[in-house]
Amino acid sequence: MIKKLIVPLVGLFVLGGLAAYIYALSTNKIVFGYNLGYQPTQPLPFSHKKHVGQYKVDCKFCHTGVDSTRHASVPSLNVCMKCHSVVKAVDEQGNPSPHIEKLTQAYYDNKPIEWEKVHLLPDHVKFNHAPHVIAGKNCNECHGPIEGMEEVYQWSSLSMGFCVNCHRKPENNAPVNCSTCHY
Ligand code: HEC
Ligand code: HEC
Ligand code: HEC
Ligand code: HEC
Ligand code: HEC
Repeated sequence: MIKKLIVPLVGLFVLGGLAAYIYALSTNKIVFGYNLGYQPTQPLPFSHKKHVGQYKVDCKFCHTGVDSTRHASVPSLNVCMKCHSVVKAVDEQGNPSPHIEKLTQAYYDNKPIEWEKVHLLPDHVKFNHAPHVIAGKNCNECHGPIEGMEEVYQWSSLSMGFCVNCHRKPENNAPVNCSTCHY
């Protein structure tokens, strides 16, 4: 009698545990362990605060493809040199910036700058920038106040709850079935 019950009971526990776990994930109850605030050291001190906040360069000038593809591409040196072939950023003594010299050298040596990735979802998650940008979602909703960041950091948790909470909002009319976001 007991033996016959063990298998279904264990099964129930496992299923119950899994359901609770998925519920917790989808309601943002588990948020520890994410890369919230992650800010790797970059090979060059590129400042969004300066380029976007101060000089008002549009995000899409550098991150081309963000409204048409999955990835929001990080700009190549060609894009930087559109300005920095002229803008040398001299100091008070008239010395050109060592960072711009490094950039120019890398450009002529055809050696890309190896930027460290800030945001990275796990492999089992599908994400695509295009439908979000087309639906009118602002970069800030997921990346925070980039225009004020001297160095970029991960502003949102990028947890499942973070995604699902927004998809659930009636005005978004976004799908919430598992296969939307998982392979
Ligand atoms: C709905 C949330 C969301 C919005 C809106 C959004 N992003 Fe992202 N962004 C992400 C996520 C999630 C990643 C990590 C993607 C990955 O790991 O595959 C990311 C990654 C990036 C990256 C790194 C390259 C890449 O694509 O992996 C850049 C650059 C970027 N976003 C720029 C932008 C810009 C510029 C905008 C606005 C035009 C924008 N994002 C709007 C969520 C968003
Ligand atoms: C639309 C024009 C424009 C583009 C494109 C541009 N920059 Fe700049 N950048 C500027 C201006 C203007 C300054 C400020 C110059 C000054 O302070 O005299 C600046 C300053 C800088 C500085 C600070 C230099 C210092 O020592 O003070 C760095 C580093 C830099 N840019 C890197 C880059 C990189 C890397 C790219 C490409 C991803 C890029 N910039 C693209 C206009 C641009
Ligand atoms: C002048 C070019 C330029 C402009 C304009 C610009 N970016 Fe960037 N962005 C870069 C470069 C270069 C990097 C890689 C170095 C870094 O992370 O700071 C980057 C990195 C990022 C990242 C982190 C990518 C990763 O590795 O996950 C995000 C998010 C991002 N930008 C969003 C934006 C948003 C939003 C705007 C507009 C508000 C914007 N950027 C405007 C050049 C630019
Ligand atoms: C700020 C609100 C918001 C956030 C945060 C958000 N999304 Fe979305 N998502 C939307 C909207 C709106 C759509 C577009 C619905 C439409 O028009 O089809 C969408 C669409 C999608 C689609 C495309 C569905 C299709 O039509 O093929 C995927 C995949 C997706 N989101 C994944 C994610 C993932 C993964 C995250 C978290 C990293 C995320 N989203 C975070 C609002 C959001
Ligand atoms: C709107 C996008 C979205 C939808 C819809 C979604 N997920 Fe997720 N899911 C994510 C993201 C992003 C992660 C990675 C971050 C995390 O672990 O929270 C994730 C992670 C997970 C994980 C792994 C957790 C871990 O510790 O690695 C499981 C399991 C999971 N999801 C199950 C589901 C199930 C089951 C459904 C359907 C009920 C579902 N997801 C629907 C975005 C989504």
